[in-house]
Amino acid sequence: MLKKLPFLALLGLLACSSEQPLTSNQSFENTHLLFDMESEVARVPCKIQGKIPSWLTGTLLRNGPAKFQVGDHHVDWFDGLAMLHAFEFAPDKVLYSNRFLRSKQYYIMMVEKSLDFGGFAQDPCPKVFKNQTSHLIPSEMQNIQNADVSIQEYADKMVALTEIPLPALFNPQTLETLGVFNYQDSLAQGQWESAHPLHDLNSQETVNYFIRFGRNSSYVIWKMPDHQRAREVIAEIPVDFPAYMHSFALTEHYVVLVEFPFVVNPLDLLLEKKPFIFNYKWMPEKGTIFHVIDRASGKTSKIKGAPFFAFHHANAFDKDGKIFLDIVTYPNANVIEEIENQIEANQATKLERFTITLANQTLSKETLFNKTLELPRIPAPLTAREYRYCYAVDATFPTTLKDQPPLYKIDTVTKTSLSWSEEGCFPGEPIFVPQPDGQKEDEGVVLSVVLDFAHHRSFLLILNGSDFTELARAEVPQPIPVGLHGLWSPRTNAIFSH
Ligand SMILES: [Fe+2]
Repeated sequence: MLKKLPFLALLGLLACSSEQPLTSNQSFENTHLLFDMESEVARVPCKIQGKIPSWLTGTLLRNGPAKFQVGDHHVDWFDGLAMLHAFEFAPDKVLYSNRFLRSKQYYIMMVEKSLDFGGFAQDPCPKVFKNQTSHLIPSEMQNIQNADVSIQEYADKMVALTEIPLPALFNPQTLETLGVFNYQDSLAQGQWESAHPLHDLNSQETVNYFIRFGRNSSYVIWKMPDHQRAREVIAEIPVDFPAYMHSFALTEHYVVLVEFPFVVNPLDLLLEKKPFIFNYKWMPEKGTIFHVIDRASGKTSKIKGAPFFAFHHANAFDKDGKIFLDIVTYPNANVIEEIENQIEANQATKLERFTITLANQTLSKETLFNKTLELPRIPAPLTAREYRYCYAVDATFPTTLKDQPPLYKIDTVTKTSLSWSEEGCFPGEPIFVPQPDGQKEDEGVVLSVVLDFAHHRSFLLILNGSDFTELARAEVPQPIPVGLHGLWSPRTNAIFSH
């Protein structure tokens, strides 16, 4: 039997069309978890089981790759075409919509029937398949990237993000692609940007960072006030060999870039000999550098820790002269390096809390949750603030129809957890929606798009935030492959239109 694969270990493996029957040389997990979506639908009512709380009105927006194949050729998971999904909660009903982002890559794959583009793990010079030489891409879509990673609200607009600037604007009512989100500032954009900007409700601003690659590379940390399109630089940190940092940490007073020793020589990116991520090298002797940036002054300091790797920070906060960073850690970057070599990765992750004592610049850590997990989320209003509960998924991909990887609710104070699971079901990123006027942090619901891979169908799961029991589920009219990140908006279509 195949070993169980951890989250992201399928990056380099073949994704197959749902229209194609299984064959003996296609492994179980590819065809059941990653498949092409063909249909786009608008506001289709979902069949509801259970009782949806009457206070739950708004829209869950989700993003993720959903088209991988052209003919017999394919792209890797992260480079599949971005599909936007909307679950609109109106009283007593859930309406589902989905639409591909009309990116440059969309037109190359869907119109030209070609794979002639580079990507995260996609060859920048594909030699395998290109059946036309002219690019039939509408001029207004030429600069839209395949933003298949996350969704954010910028300047009262919805944008889809990937790690290549710039954000892609879309209409949250119709999911129609509107164009590139242009900033109204003079900041020279880098070549790479995190798809995990953080919104601070208290300071009413969004913070993110990008990398300028070149002879003199640097990390550029910026902030942008709510309702505005102009960024302001908080700090710029020079770096010789930039690290791959998928996300970062924000507290009330600090930004922390956790610089893992998974780094790239910018010259290698320039030469474009390999897919983007395969240019990075694991150099544990460099250790992990915690760059602490004062949000007010831009003053920076750094502390060195032991080598490790991560994709996602759960949350961070500062209190009493200490900074607390909760991170889903991997022991190293093998999860990516083994993909390059088509070897099965089998790494466990855990949720660890790193504590920086500012007075003496010391670093310590403790384990908060010791089971393999990924896609951690916390209540959005508590970003950068002290919090208690983290929600996450099991990071292990199933390999049999009877597997049931859990969703977790993790109590970071007591270090205990609750879970939900169902046979043959693979839950997606859990998003917490607070109950209006709720008194407790976990008063609300947790939403997760679950892929019932045993029956090739999907449903939106609605759990009680406090005891993690199922309140209801909404059956999606079509199966949705394993996705990435999403966003809860308290607005519905009726409210969006005003
Ligand atoms: Fe992510």
